[in-house]
Amino acid sequence: MGKDPALISAIGAVSANGMIGLDGWLPWDIPEELAYFETTVAGAALLIGRLTYESMDVVPEDSFVVSRRADIAMRPGCTRVATVEDGLRRALATGKPVFVIGGASIYAAAWRYCQRFWLTRIERDFDGDSAFPETVDLGGWAIESENRRYLRERKTDTDVMCRFLVYRQDNPLPLPFPNCNSSGA
Ligand SMILES: NC(=O)c1ccc[n+]([C@@H]2O[C@H](COP(=O)([O-])OP(=O)(O)OC[C@H]3O[C@@H](n4cnc5c(N)ncnc54)[C@H](OP(=O)(O)O)[C@@H]3O)[C@@H](O)[C@H]2O)c1
Repeated sequence: MGKDPALISAIGAVSANGMIGLDGWLPWDIPEELAYFETTVAGAALLIGRLTYESMDVVPEDSFVVSRRADIAMRPGCTRVATVEDGLRRALATGKPVFVIGGASIYAAAWRYCQRFWLTRIERDFDGDSAFPETVDLGGWAIESENRRYLRERKTDTDVMCRFLVYRQDNPLPLPFPNCNSSGA
């Protein structure tokens, strides 16, 4: 489910106070949540913001990194793209399912093209310096599934409720036709 080719999904995790990042990484330390992310996106083509890309120890092949910097160095298997739309087109062209993995500006630019948003709601406030964009409005999307689990948060050494939600929008925006200025690699 949710991993068919030609399907664009987004995936992320957000705290109760809307935070997604702190100091270039996640505001929390919940290994099971990270494992859920890794399992869900395994084998997919990824669309990644440049800062998130730089924060990742391992980046799988068929990753498309959105950056306005034409001279940015890419790891093997990764391609720089200048726009979210170009990145999505090129990710779809791999024939793999596509996941938009953030950060904030990438969710904000890509969410209308997504059929699903795999969003973990971590039901506690955390300090952060990167917020889930307010413009991403999942209010009109159907909730396809929800699983709730208490998981250990290792910074506080306490359990926190995590709600693993899959939202679905049935009529995502079609990707616009490419124009001659949009190829970034
Ligand atoms: N909780 C989660 O699920 C989750 C998911 C992802 C990331 N994060 C966290 O979020 C933080 C990073 O996210 P972020 O929002 O600060 O940065 P980001 O979205 O990962 O990267 C921002 C960069 O992407 C490029 N970019 C963004 N929009 C663009 C556009 N429309 N066209 C071309 N390039 C564009 C720019 O790169 P250039 O400056 O190179 O032009 C920009 O500086 C980290 O703390 C990370 O750990 C959390």
